[in-house]
Amino acid sequence: MILAVESSCDDTSVALVDMTGALFFHRSLSQNDLHAPFGGVVPELASRTHSERLPFLVEQAFSETGLSLEQVSAAALTVGPGLSGGLLAAISFLKGLCWAKNIPMVPVHHIRAHLRVALDPSLEIPRESLGLVVSGGHTHLYRIREWPDLDLVGQTTDDAAGEAFDKGAKVLGLPYPGGPEIEKQASLWTGPLIKFVRGINTRNSFDFSFSGLKTAFVGHIRQTGTDPSKTPQLAASYQSAIVSHLTDRIGKALEAFHPPSLLVGGGVAANLHFRSELEILCEEKGIPLYMAPRPLCGDNAVMVALTGLELFRAGRGVMSPYDEIRPRPRWDED
Ligand code: KG4
Ligand code: ZN
Repeated sequence: MILAVESSCDDTSVALVDMTGALFFHRSLSQNDLHAPFGGVVPELASRTHSERLPFLVEQAFSETGLSLEQVSAAALTVGPGLSGGLLAAISFLKGLCWAKNIPMVPVHHIRAHLRVALDPSLEIPRESLGLVVSGGHTHLYRIREWPDLDLVGQTTDDAAGEAFDKGAKVLGLPYPGGPEIEKQASLWTGPLIKFVRGINTRNSFDFSFSGLKTAFVGHIRQTGTDPSKTPQLAASYQSAIVSHLTDRIGKALEAFHPPSLLVGGGVAANLHFRSELEILCEEKGIPLYMAPRPLCGDNAVMVALTGLELFRAGRGVMSPYDEIRPRPRWDED
């Protein structure tokens, strides 16, 4: 078995898979309620909560499946990119556990894990594919030279797409995290949409930018007020603006690179409007599209388990609990 832990942001998640990737256990504890009053993730609160919950979740994984630590061949864990306190919580906890039982550890790159579950993990990711991760911390477009090597070809110059959803929701008085709330409100509207911005300029044509849209949205609401009856139209218009900017830039990248496939993951990839616009775009361009299944779009330990399993089988990056395993909060840049 592979025991896997994800704690890079505000979800504490544990999974157990066997050597074929079959899932035996998966549970995630969200910290949304804890961070909601602050309108975003508070790193110190997140790391403390991971430390409290991890032992409890791992205990449940074994007691509920009847499996034991003796059956674990390796422990996979996200070590970056992410919030260093949360990463350290998992590293410290698993180091103790693995040291006691002499279990190898497999550090996992969070972004690769998001992309790995876009395509069935038993299938190879085609060389030169493009990979997009859209979440609360990332709006990053990669050229996958040869899996798992990623070249960054575009990124947000300001807010991440998920952050843009969260900030827009806050202005509308909707709870955190805002993406699913905006999506819910938007689904109630079928009428005309409000256009907040005309074109979004970035120096690199594969980059993304959401701050101008957010400013225009806030400006519009200041002028017109936040009458709750207007929320569905505002949410639908804002969602449409975010999605059309994403698909515009992805479309440009597809034309420039002609990749053999596009892989998409991250919390925002759960958005149904985004998914259907991506399907239309990829169909138009004749490029196979692989999106993470909706329940695996947000942060979860299943993606860590499957990425860790692939590394373990290939003998890549396997470490001992005695080795220096440190948080790599900016792993995508160092
Ligand atoms: O991947 P994720 O769970 O955590 C990070 O690594 O950031 O992504 C969380 C982000 C949040 O900003 C949340 O608002 C957004 O993903 N999100 C969505 C949806 N579900 C989650 N955004 C738009 N539509 C959704 N259905
Ligand atoms: Zn993530």
